[in-house]
Amino acid sequence: MNEPGRRIEVASDQDVVRVRQQVRTLAVAVKLSLVDQTKLVTAASELARNTLVYGGGGTVDAGRVDNGRRIGIRVVFADRGPGIPDLDLALTDGYTSGNGLGLGLSGARRLVDEFDIDTAVGQGTTISVTKWCR
Ligand SMILES: Nc1ncnc2c1ncn2[C@@H]1O[C@H](COP(=O)(O)OP(=O)(O)O)[C@@H](O)[C@H]1O
Ligand SMILES: [Mg+2]
Repeated sequence: MNEPGRRIEVASDQDVVRVRQQVRTLAVAVKLSLVDQTKLVTAASELARNTLVYGGGGTVDAGRVDNGRRIGIRVVFADRGPGIPDLDLALTDGYTSGNGLGLGLSGARRLVDEFDIDTAVGQGTTISVTKWCR
């Protein structure tokens, strides 16, 4: 059974801070290890920033998930921005179309247990990440 979390609208730097805080609170509540809390918060921060900078803003939904064996935290980032034309390229370490370091997407993928991207040019991007308690 998955409990719906609170939705955060991402339209400013302060909203990215709110995402970090919300994800940290949820991660503590399900007793993710301190290391895993930090990994998830770091991934969420990078992805929320991408939602803001490249997606032109969007939403973040974070909540507890339970697959019957383990509990964890899932965070879903959605925007209706330009989409990602070349996903392999975007996931390459060091690739940026802007002024970043190009380590947000690739780094976030390594920091979580599950990482799913749904993107279409002209439609937008949705990224779902999950961290399970071990
Ligand atoms: N939500 C998004 N919408 C459109 N493009 C995106 C989105 N997120 C990431 N990208 C693309 O993927 C690239 C790599 O992202 P990332 O690894 O976070 O690097 P950076 O943020 O430093 O550019 C971005 O430069 C951008 O071109
Ligand atoms: Mg980034």
